[in-house]
Formats: sequence, C-alpha cells, structure tokens
Amino acid sequence: MAASQPATVGSVAPFLAKAPPISIPMRHFVFAAVAFWVFAAAFFLGSGRFLGFNFQALWVLGLVHTLTLGWITMSIFGALCQLTPVLWEIPLPNPGLVKLAWWCFAIGLVGFVGHLWADLQNFWMPAALAVLGVFFYLFVFWKAILLAKKLDWTGTHLALSLGYLSIVVILGLLLAYDREMGILFSDPEGVLIAHIHLALVGWVSLTIMGVSYRLVSMFTLAHLESKTPGRLALVLVNAGLIGLAADCLFFGGRLLPLWSVILVLGGAAYLYQMRRIFAARNRRIDPALGFTILALLGGAVWAALGLSLAFGWLPDTTNMRVAYIFAAILGWITPFILGQIHKIVPFLVWLHLYNPSRGFAPGIKLPKMQDLTSQTIAWMELAALTPAIYIGIAAFLMKSEILIRVSALFFLAAATLYLINTGLTLKHLKWSPYSA
Ligand code: HEM
Repeated sequence: MAASQPATVGSVAPFLAKAPPISIPMRHFVFAAVAFWVFAAAFFLGSGRFLGFNFQALWVLGLVHTLTLGWITMSIFGALCQLTPVLWEIPLPNPGLVKLAWWCFAIGLVGFVGHLWADLQNFWMPAALAVLGVFFYLFVFWKAILLAKKLDWTGTHLALSLGYLSIVVILGLLLAYDREMGILFSDPEGVLIAHIHLALVGWVSLTIMGVSYRLVSMFTLAHLESKTPGRLALVLVNAGLIGLAADCLFFGGRLLPLWSVILVLGGAAYLYQMRRIFAARNRRIDPALGFTILALLGGAVWAALGLSLAFGWLPDTTNMRVAYIFAAILGWITPFILGQIHKIVPFLVWLHLYNPSRGFAPGIKLPKMQDLTSQTIAWMELAALTPAIYIGIAAFLMKSEILIRVSALFFLAAATLYLINTGLTLKHLKWSPYSA
C-alpha cells in the first residue's frame, strides 16, 4: 500500500516539479535547531549576567543574535526557499547563490557571535560577511517576487518584510561599527530602537503574519471568507512601524505612545483574523497548532508590555526592556516558528522519500507523514516551552535570578527535545531503505 498523501498539502505533483533539492531547506532548519539549543545552553550557563546588565553588554548581544539571526532568520530563510514554488509558482531562482548565501550568513554569524563572546576587536567584520549573505538571499527572493505570476496576500507581506530586512541589517552593521568607533551616530539609542522594531515587527512579525494566513489556514483546513481584519492589520502595523522608526531615527522618539497604540491596534486586528481562522477550523488541536496558539498569547503579552513601557506604566529600566524583547523573541516568534517547522520538516522528508510518484511496487508498506515525527515528544516540547517563556518574563519583571535559572532549565529541556524530534525525522534521510 502506498503512503497516504498528506491532507495538508493537496496534490504534490506541481510542487514537486518546482521544489528545490531537499538539502537546501534542511541545512537552514538544522543550523536553526542547533542555534536554538546553543541559546538555551548559554542562557542556562550564563545566569548571573542577565539582571541589571549594562545594555551595552557584548555577551548578551551575542546571545540575542544567536536567536534572532541563527534561530529565527535562518528558519525563515529555509521556509522561504521551500515556499517559493508554493507562493510564487516558480522554482527557486539561483539555488547555487542560495548555497553561497547560506555559507556567508552562517560563517559571518558564527564569527560575529564568536567575536562578541570572546571579547575580540572588529566584530563588525564578520557581521559584514553575514550581511553580504543576507543580500544574496534578498536578491534571490526579490527575483522570485518579480518573476511571480501574481503577488497574493502572503506575497505582499513578504515583499514588505524583505524590504525591512534590508534596512535592519544595514542599521545593524552600522551599529556594530559604531559600537567600536563611536563616530557615526549622535543618538545611538534612537537607532537601536529603530533597529529592534524594524527587525522584530517589520522583518519577523510581518513575515509571520503573511505566512500564518496561508499555512495556519492550510493546517487547520479552514476556509477564510473575509480578510478585512488582516488587511487592516497590514495597514496599521506598517503605519505604526514606519512612524516609530522615522521618529526614533530623525526626531528623538517623541511620539512613542502614538506609534505603540497604532501597532497594538494592528496586532489586535491580526489576532481577530487568526481567531476567525481557528473558529473555522476542521482539525483538532495538534502540537503544531498548540505552538501557534501559544505564540498568539505571547504576541498579546508582548503588545501589553510595549504599551506599558511607551505610556510609562512600567519603569523604563533595562530589565523591563529585556522582558519586552524576551516576550517578542521567545513568547511570540519562537513558538510560531516551532509550530510551522513541526509540519514542514516531516512533510519535506516524507515527500523526498515516500511520495507515491516515486513509483513504489504495489504492496510495499511505507511510513505515513505522521510516522516521521513523535507527537508525544512534540507535546513535551510544548509543555517545557510554556513555563520557560512565562517564568522568564516574570524573572525580568521581578528581577529574580532564581526564576531566570528555572526558565533557562525549561528552555534547555524544550530545545533538547526539539533537537531529538528533528533528529528522528532526519534519520530517515540517512537510514531509510529508500533514501538513495
Ligand atoms: C547581520 C545583521 C545584524 C547586525 C550586524 C546587528 C547588530 C546589532 C548591534 C550592533 C546591536 C547593538 C546596538 C547597540 O546597542 O548600540 C543590535 C541590537 C539588537 N538587534 Fe541586531 N543586528 C543584526 C540583525 C538583527 C536581526 C535580524 C534582529 C531580529 C530579528 C536583530 C535584533 C536585535 C535586538 C533585539 C537588539 C537589542 C539587543 C541588544 O542590544 O543586546 N538584529 N544588533
């Protein structure tokens, strides 16, 4: 009996004809899983360095970019390589350039974080290599967008988020250079706030919003009747972000409360759109959807902290700012990525090895897609990640070193379980009798 076709993806034949070699997305997902584990281990081992630290601390900067570049950006690049044929109905342009981009980005990132952790001079130099890698990726994805037969709703989000990414990495590189030279910016604080928001809202959150309308509807088998809340979210998030970034870069950040209200309203419209997708679902909640719900909760907490900081309801201290960034990166972005990757990686491996179009002899019993991953381990990951996030946020709000340790221990458990589960899927590529 041939393996059953996964219900989430419909007919795979047109996709297969245009899909890139599996090694291209996989190298991204493997690097990202290791980066997430390195973050968790360093967060655990580095306790004592996080409370009341000077925000200039290079060690923390390295940890933040292990997550934002190594885990988050690497995962998104891998997913976009795979999604290109789905979203834009064309093969991935220049796969050779994507491989080169991966090497530049990976080596540049390891060098950047390594320099920061070893307290070495000129850390902007490896950062420049990582930025070069990002521009190779941007070239490929923009080319795909230009060649696309049509730009749908998700594509519009991605075209914008890729534009923000180009500004983020240029600002990041200039900040890295200026940290050592101190000659470029009269108000580095304003540039830093712009860099952080263009990155977390413009690059990552807009990508997540666009992709979630497509992927979460697909995974829940929900049919979307109205996209009005989502369209409103797109307008409000862009308006709030551009206002905030321009204000911080050129006018000293005088209207932060206004921008925060516009951004939060955009986030609320997005949440409403997602609520409708979940209400229309035809699937029971599995671990991947559980991660997505956890992410939506984390997004709401992030927005509440942002509003409280902008209006002065919370004191503007380093610990409060860390709680805010922590809620964004680990409460909102991380569970969303985990939710999607738990579907994408087994699907790609199944498609590569066991899809019926490979012409298996009748009667052969092949694994199904769900056999390639452990649901039990995925639920355990979710069970470890949830306390990790909320104990971590509480730790920074309450300035508790003990809670930081507890949160870090849960993160280490979640990241280790995730590595094991990813390994269970990937082992098929090496040891399956059909892996030739
Ligand atoms: C290669 C690209 C990037 C470089 C070279 C870079 C560089 C930097 C530098 C030098 C700072 C500290 C600035 C200062 O305090 O004066 C910083 C802060 C930060 N960046 Fe980036 N960045 C890059 C990409 C990103 C991306 C893609 C994200 C998010 C997705 C991100 C998120 C952050 C956050 C949250 C902070 C504040 C945390 C801290 O200062 O420790 N960065 N970045």
